[in-house]
Amino acid sequence: MKDERLMLAIESSCDDTGAAIVRGTRLLSNVLSSQQVHEQYGGVVPELASRAHIQNIVPTVSVAVQRAGISLSDIQGIAVTLGPGLIGSLAVGVGMAKGLSLGLGVPLYDVNHLHAHVLAHFIQTDDDQEMPEFPYLCLLASGGNSQLVLVKSPMDMEILGHTIDDAAGEAFDKCAKVVGLPYPGGPVIDSLAQHGNAKRFKFAKSRVPGLDYSFSGLKTSFLYLLRDELNKNPDFIKENVNDLAASLQYTIIEMLMVKLREAVHLTGVKHVAIGGGVSANSGLRNAVSDYCRSNGLKAWIPPRQFTTDNAAMVAVAANLQADMGKQNTSLCAVPFSKLRI
Ligand code: KG4
Repeated sequence: MKDERLMLAIESSCDDTGAAIVRGTRLLSNVLSSQQVHEQYGGVVPELASRAHIQNIVPTVSVAVQRAGISLSDIQGIAVTLGPGLIGSLAVGVGMAKGLSLGLGVPLYDVNHLHAHVLAHFIQTDDDQEMPEFPYLCLLASGGNSQLVLVKSPMDMEILGHTIDDAAGEAFDKCAKVVGLPYPGGPVIDSLAQHGNAKRFKFAKSRVPGLDYSFSGLKTSFLYLLRDELNKNPDFIKENVNDLAASLQYTIIEMLMVKLREAVHLTGVKHVAIGGGVSANSGLRNAVSDYCRSNGLKAWIPPRQFTTDNAAMVAVAANLQADMGKQNTSLCAVPFSKLRI
C-alpha cells in the first residue's frame, strides 16, 4: 500500500448494519449488527430493515471506533456502500457517511457492494497474509447475485456471466422455506446436508448458454418433488429433511461449479476466488478447494466472517480504489436519487 489511509466504512445495503475501520488494508475493527426482526417473515422486509438501521447505525459506528483504539478525529476517509441494495437501507448508511464526512472534513468514497465482496480477499488480518494476484476469477454468490467476475484490478472488473433469474442464495432460501426451515435457509441447509445423502434426490438443472446461471427451474423441480411425495406420505419432509438438504446443496454447487470450470478454461486464470454469503457454504468451499488443488490453481476461500455483508470489505475496497486514483465523492454528488437499487 502506498497510502496507509485510516478509513471508516459503513455498510447498510440489506439487513446488516456494519461499520469497520482499516489502515490501508489492515483491519482494525469490524462490527456487525444483524437484524433478527425479519426471521418471523421468512425474508427481509425493507421498511423494517431501514428502521432497524436507523436504530443501529450510531452505536455500531461508535463501537467500531472504540474497538479500533482510535478517535473519530484520526479518521482520514469515510467509505460507504452506495448500492446495489435496498433503497431505504442504503439511504441510512449514506446519510450517516455524509454527515461524518462533512463533520470531520474528510473525503467520502462510495463503494459498489459487489466490488466490495469481490475484493474481500484483501482484508488483512495478519501481517504475513497473502493476497490474490490479478487477474483472478471470482464466483460471487449471495442472496441477490450470482456472478462470475474477472477481476483485472480493484477498479477493473468484467462480469463474464450472471444469473438470469434467481440467485444461488435465493434458491437455498426459497427451497428451505418450502420445507419449513427458518430464514435465511442457506446456513440451515448447509448444516442438515452434513447428515444427508446428496445423491438421493435428483433435481432439474437449467442449461442456459454461456456463463450465465439460472436457478428458477431447480426451485420448481424441488417444489414438484415435495408436492408428489407429500401426496403419498404426509411425513415425507420430516423423514427426509437431511437427504433433501444434501441433494439440494449438491445440485446448486454442481450448477455453480460447471460454469466456474468453464470460465477458468476460457480465461486461463491461475487464481480462483469465491465471495458473497453462499461462499460460507461448506460444500462449495470444499468443491472449489478440491478443484483448484487438482488443477494447479490457487484457491481463495474467504474467512466465514467476510462472506456475508460486512463493512470491512467496503473499507478495504475504498482504500484499494482510492490508491488507484478513484476520486472521492463530493457530498452533493450523492443525492439519494442516485442510490442504485
Ligand atoms: O452476501 P449476503 O450476506 O447478502 C446478500 O445477499 O447481499 O448473502 C446472504 C445469502 C443468503 O441467501 C443465505 O442463505 C446465504 O447467503 N448463505 C448461505 C450460507 N450462509 C449464508 N448459503 C449456503 N450455505 C451457507 N452456509
